[in-house]
Amino acid sequence: MPEFVRICGKSDLPSPGEAREIIFENKVLCVANVAGTISVISNVCPHRGGPLGQGMIENGKIVCPWHAWAFDLKTGQAEHTLHTKVPVYEVKIEGDNVLVKL
Ligand code: FES
Repeated sequence: MPEFVRICGKSDLPSPGEAREIIFENKVLCVANVAGTISVISNVCPHRGGPLGQGMIENGKIVCPWHAWAFDLKTGQAEHTLHTKVPVYEVKIEGDNVLVKL
């Protein structure tokens, strides 16, 4: 059973409208802030492995910096096809701790 683990502190989170990569143990995560709502998804774009955490946010979606595939930050669903998704992790903030179920 996955458990919540602390991936970073609240002050490490991206500003509203931005995303960033956060490294936790041997994993790189894409952490995004959509108007104050934090999403944590896999950093690996299913197209060719682009770093989603280096992408831009547009209309609640993260846009891969390599070839512009877009993924919904709540569901991980690709915009252009129902067949592709990125893993989305449950996240909660407790005090200064950002906790994610990995
Ligand atoms: S690697 Fe992300 S769109 Fe191609």
